[in-house]
Amino acid sequence: MPETRTFKHLLVTGGCGFIGSNFVRSVLEWRPNVRITNLDALTYSGNLENLTEIEGHDRYAFVKGDITDGPLVQSLLADCDTVINFAAESHVDRSIQDASPFITSNVLGTQVLLQACRNTWADDGKAGRFLQVGTDEVYGSLPLNEPNLLFTESTPLDPSSPYSASKAAADMLAMTFRRTFGMDVLLTRCSNNYGPYQFPEKVIPLFVTNLMQGEQVPLYGDGKNVRDWLHVVDHCEAILAVLEGGRPGEVYNIGGNNERSNLELTHAILDIMGKGKDMIRPVADRLGHDRRYAIDASKMKTELDWQPSRSAWPKGLEDTIRWYQDNTEWWQRVRSGAYRDYYEKMYGATAR
Ligand code: TYD
Repeated sequence: MPETRTFKHLLVTGGCGFIGSNFVRSVLEWRPNVRITNLDALTYSGNLENLTEIEGHDRYAFVKGDITDGPLVQSLLADCDTVINFAAESHVDRSIQDASPFITSNVLGTQVLLQACRNTWADDGKAGRFLQVGTDEVYGSLPLNEPNLLFTESTPLDPSSPYSASKAAADMLAMTFRRTFGMDVLLTRCSNNYGPYQFPEKVIPLFVTNLMQGEQVPLYGDGKNVRDWLHVVDHCEAILAVLEGGRPGEVYNIGGNNERSNLELTHAILDIMGKGKDMIRPVADRLGHDRRYAIDASKMKTELDWQPSRSAWPKGLEDTIRWYQDNTEWWQRVRSGAYRDYYEKMYGATAR
């Protein structure tokens, strides 16, 4: 991948979440001179166990704290030349139940971070870079009957859920700091991620861990909704390419080129795990359920020479399922405690 910008010390927010922890682990390995400070509030899905193997690493520091805490963020920024904001509430179903944490973390949190960067870098005369990690859900829904239609970077924002609306607001705020103050801000927007350490509220780890416990999988509606599945390590590689080679003020769409309907996904999981179709439990559809997401990632290819290499199936899905089979203690701990209440409220059944 072309490398034009080097950085020494990254402030990663939300580095104990699914994508953030994969990014921290990968960058420490891929870039031997980079230091990382990870600021994470350790809310329900942030988990120190996602990064056990790098505890005590000499180029890594963990700070427990919230991105809405301006003075804390500013004190950490003093020594950093780059910020990458992964910290976010990310689950659509939770945003349907209660949108307020989404506005606080995703909108207010992003504004506090941006303001802290502006204060720090403007005062020091330094040109730090701010990368906002976003989602393709801000573009809304594509129709099923026009398979050639894809989200490009210029597709208008048209979010359907409180979650995607909060992310759209964060994206737009970030861009105003580019336009108004000339800061080096850029955005990425990814399709659905999957891989190790994903919180089992999301469909793949939910279905896989349900099946491992002999429970059925709750499939929403007619199962025809389509998602473009991106392996999380492909995503991390793409984000690094944008950090190093992306142009300020630009948006980069990152996708897996791997569209599957939920039915197709569910059947693939059942096949790999040797389970029958009787394990599918059809349940009521999600409110405002987007029909299809699909990314045109050609800008990543032409500008930054990036393409997904791990996302396609069956390999990516098989590797992921094996990871959950090999790491039962991790997800069993995650699925205990407050998770049980969430599961019961969502699916009307008791989680084991
Ligand atoms: P999810 O993993 O929640 O990601 P997103 O909503 O951000 O795309 O859901 C992926 C797809 O799987 C989505 O179309 C909803 C569907 N789904 C189910 O059918 N059952 C479930 O229990 C969940 C969580 C999701």
